[in-house]
This record gives sequence, C-alpha cells and structure tokens, in this order.
Amino acid sequence: MSEIEYRPGLDGVPAVQTRISFLDLEHEQIVIRGYDLIELAERLSYLEVGYLLLRGEVPQPAQLSALEATIRRQQASLPPELGQIYAAWGERLHPMDALRTGISALSADHGGFDADNGEGLEDTLIRLWALVPVMIAQAHRARTHHPFSEPRGDLPFAANFLWMMTGIEPSPLAARIFDRLLILYSEHEMPNSTFAARVIASSLADPYGALTGAVAALKGPLHGGANEAVMHMLQAVGSAQAMEAYLLDRLKAKARIMGFGHRVYMHRPDPRAVMTKALLAELVREKGGQQLQAMCEEGERVMRDQKGLYPNLDYYAAPVYHLLGIATDLFTPIFFAARTAGLAAHLREQYAHNRLFRPRVVYLGPRGLTLRTGDSG
Ligand code: ACO
Repeated sequence: MSEIEYRPGLDGVPAVQTRISFLDLEHEQIVIRGYDLIELAERLSYLEVGYLLLRGEVPQPAQLSALEATIRRQQASLPPELGQIYAAWGERLHPMDALRTGISALSADHGGFDADNGEGLEDTLIRLWALVPVMIAQAHRARTHHPFSEPRGDLPFAANFLWMMTGIEPSPLAARIFDRLLILYSEHEMPNSTFAARVIASSLADPYGALTGAVAALKGPLHGGANEAVMHMLQAVGSAQAMEAYLLDRLKAKARIMGFGHRVYMHRPDPRAVMTKALLAELVREKGGQQLQAMCEEGERVMRDQKGLYPNLDYYAAPVYHLLGIATDLFTPIFFAARTAGLAAHLREQYAHNRLFRPRVVYLGPRGLTLRTGDSG
C-alpha cells in the first residue's frame, strides 16, 4: 500500500477504462465516442447524441425514429402513484429531492435485475432516460399548483421537455438553445455523480439505485448544484457595476465563487462554457437581458484577473435557463436529465466490464490499543 501515492479527491487518478468520453486537454476537446462534443452540439440533436452515447454510433434516420417512438411510449407511462406523491409533498420537496425519490420509486414492479441481460438493461436505461424529464416536470407543476402538461408526442425531445415544465410551447429559438444545452450537459467523462453511479453499479446493484445515488451526488453545490447557486448570486448582485466589488469581497472572505473552476480545467477555459456564452448572446439579441449578460461577462473578467479562474458550463447555463423562463431550482434537475444519457452509457459499460470498486485507505489512526478493565458497558 505505501508505494501507492495518496491523491486527495482522487485527483488525476484514472478510475475506469472507458470508450465513452475523455477530456482531451492537449487538443482542448471533449471527446465523445471519438467526436468533438462542440461539433455534436452544433450539428446533431440531443436524442442523436444520446443514441451515440448509448450505442456508440450516430443513428441512421430509422434508428432515430425507433428511439423517438420508444421514448414517447415510455414518457406516457409514468406510474400514477408518483403524481400522488408529488401532489402530497408539493413545495416541501426540492425538485432534486423529488427526482431522487421518483427514480428510486420507479423500481417498483421492476425488480429482479439481471446485469447480464443486455436487452432488459437497455430497456431499463431508456425507460429512466425518458421518464426523468417527465418526473421533473410533474413534480414542478404539482408544487406550483398547475395541472400537469402531458408529454406531447408531436414535439421533439427538448421542446417537449420545456413544454412539460412550463406549459408553454417554446419558440424554435428557445427549443434549439435548450437542445444544445442538453447536449453540452449530456456527458463529461468522470465527474463525481458518474463515479457515484459506477461505484453503486459495480456491486451489481440495479440502475435505479445507481441513478438515485447519482442524483444525490449531483445536487451538491460543488457539482451540479452550482448552476442554481450561480443564478442566486447573479440575482443578489443585481448589476454589472456591482459585480467587481461583490466578487472582491467574497474572495477576500475566502469564499468559493460558484460557476468558476473545475477539477480538470481549473486554469483553462471549459469549451462548453465558451459555447454557452455564445448561446447567451444569441438569446439576448432575440429576447433582451443585456444587463444579465453584462453582469456575467464582468464576473468572468474579474475572476480571470483575480484568480486566473475561468467559468465552467454552469456559469453561463444559469442566465440562459433564466432567460428561457425556467424556475431556478429546476436548473440542476435539468442537468441530471441531460446527463442521464451519459450515465446510461456508463452503467452499460460498467456492467459489461465489471469489477467491484473497493479501494483502500491511508490509515492515520492509532494502533495497538488495549481495552482496560471496565471499558465495556
Ligand atoms: N472560487 C474561488 N476559489 C476557487 C474556486 C472558486 N470557484 N475554485 C477553486 N478555487 C481555488 C480554491 O480555493 C483553491 O485555492 P487555494 O489553493 O488557494 O486553497 C484552489 O482554487 C484549488 O481548489 P480545490 O477546491 O482544491 O480544487 P478542486 O479541483 O477540488 O475543485 C471545484 C473543483 C469543486 C469545481 C471548484 O473549482 C469549485 O468549488 N468551484 C465552484 C463550484 C462549481 O462551480 N462547481 C461546478 C463544477 S462544473 C460542473 O459540475 C458542470
């Protein structure tokens, strides 16, 4: 054991061998199944990227239609008991907790998981992928006392997701920008939540359990919860003029500024944030929101000057979602919905090449203690 170097937070330690994705820092690319994520976001739809993630190749039109049909069928099959749970808990349940509960509850009537049954596994993964947006929307509509906007089979995946959450059919621009963000969030190598899912799956626990654990991991503000926290920060600051003083104050107090930094990119740009900044500019040209955009850009400048830190995806995703009319506490659930595609691919890979995760420790406690008479009750 002693010859293995301890790296806090497993920084830089490879946890798996994978064919799914890789952060190629040398070429400043996020490689997804061999393709550049940014090119995928420019040219494909989210469902096409999801198919690529899950099956390893870009779908032909007939394959995509078959997937769309399966997703539509699955989206119409949310167990009614979940609607009752969401209605009963209402606003007392944070949307991430509603999602965590929902994914766990979906295992009802779907017991007897067999990791060697490839077809059964894929059906389960697609079921989860299809139902996550429905659960997010249904829980949100219930807590805001709106009737549920039933999934619409005539709308593409992203537009339907927006429709279910807001009850408003999105404009083509809003649907396209939302679809791109789903792609940018769809997969990102080995973040904390993906690792959590793979660790759980490595005991051959079922995908419901693995994804329940992944939602719990994603909720934290150091990970997926950052996009919600960024929006709260922007609202607290209020203007571009107030941004510098706010950040200097927070940095002086040694606070972490949400939406900046990343374990892998730390002092270099996150390509997803670069694209999302451009999407924000496009959205602002159509819908207004110049103040918000100016505030974000000022924050980016200050953080680069002061700390050499760059914005991550969550920083620019927050104002984009806000301008799309999405409630702030749905930002992280949407991250998870997008990431379900990548997680499905990881679970399939984990089950196919499984070895139980069981690391060791560097023990710092005492040894050789002996009990004295009277120590035990
Ligand atoms: N604000 C201020 N300082 C920061 C930030 C930040 N956002 N991020 C890192 N630092 C500083 C740390 O204070 C530390 O400084 P020090 O060496 O002087 O103590 C140094 O940079 C290294 O930080 P670590 O926490 O050791 O780096 P780690 O790799 O563990 O952290 C993390 C990565 C958690 C993402 C961090 O950058 C952070 O907290 N960012 C804010 C939260 C956030 O935006 N998370 C979203 C991540 S991306 C995503 O999930 C899509």
